[in-house]
Amino acid sequence: MKRARIVGTGRALPEKVLTNADFERMVDTSDEWITGRTGIKERRIASDEEALSDFAIPSAREALELAGIEGKDVDLVIVATVTPDTSFPATSTQVQDAIGAKGAAAFDLSAACTGFIYSLAVAKSMIDAGAIETAVLVGAEVLSKVVDYSERSTSVLFGDGAGAVVVRAEEGEPGLLSVAMHSDGSLGHLIDRPVGGSRHPIKSLESLDSGSDLGYIRMRGNETFRVAVRSLAEVSHEVLADYGVSPSDVDWFIPHQANRRIIDAVGQRLAIPEGRTYVNVERYGNTSSASIPIALDELNRSGELESGHLVLLSAFGSGLTWGASLIRW
Ligand code: UT7
Repeated sequence: MKRARIVGTGRALPEKVLTNADFERMVDTSDEWITGRTGIKERRIASDEEALSDFAIPSAREALELAGIEGKDVDLVIVATVTPDTSFPATSTQVQDAIGAKGAAAFDLSAACTGFIYSLAVAKSMIDAGAIETAVLVGAEVLSKVVDYSERSTSVLFGDGAGAVVVRAEEGEPGLLSVAMHSDGSLGHLIDRPVGGSRHPIKSLESLDSGSDLGYIRMRGNETFRVAVRSLAEVSHEVLADYGVSPSDVDWFIPHQANRRIIDAVGQRLAIPEGRTYVNVERYGNTSSASIPIALDELNRSGELESGHLVLLSAFGSGLTWGASLIRW
């Protein structure tokens, strides 16, 4: 019986770097505050001309190249994002076209920072059911386009980028061992961006009220922080228990890169052994759905991720949504 396995990874990031020193010139903040509260030192930011697909497409191409798979063999393309190129059509259809996945199914998946985990769950289910053989999953975000750079508490947190994986049906031991997904819409107000849907439609540029914050990411950071730590720890335990292993069996823990303090707190709650948590938040900030696949690709290409390693992924974000996955590399 064929089971789902990740066979390639890729990433693409904007060239432009925004450092904490840059923010010191833009808003009332300091490198000391940002580093101390978040661990972030710099983040990558798309140029005015760049949009989501400018990163989603190259990340997907990289993953396919590493996997040695051609676009024509891809059955499904998912782009997990809340910042697509356009409201519709879905950006995934542009990726499908660019990689030559002729006739493949393609859709965008909206689960904010948890989007990549959700896409893993979809691909695993479809492969395990025998419905598809090969999927390209992209987590990509250009949050800089919806960040208010005059507002210090959210602007310093976010960055842009894309990460991708190729998931394929293979004989032998399964790679995607377990995936869990959850949500709680009653806490939707903790992180949102109201404009752009049917509740606050944008029919013309004039319809955006200047002075309103409805078009920007809004976050109640402190409350979000507390729920994030609890949910990430719980859902991580859930996938570990599902497969009958404990945190000490994990070779690599790759949490969503939102904040160094959240990552450390979750690692402590889970008792992940020292040195097994992958962190790059200092270089990219919070890239939402892109953070886990970017980290996965960095680790994969560094040679530190070895065949047979047990990898735990977990994420948390707007919705609220949260989820985790356990992988045998
Ligand atoms: O990926 C989706 C999930 N999102 C998250 O996981 C984010 C979760 N939240 C967080 O990471 C943290 O809550 C933040 C990093 C956003 C904020 O850290 P905090 O320790 O919760 O700070 P706070 O919001 O309670 O603010 C503390 C103080 C406030 O000043 P007062 O009221 O105590 O005088 C803020 O106005 O820090 C102030 N502050 C800043 N000061 C300097 C807020 N932002 C800044 C800033 N520079 N950039």
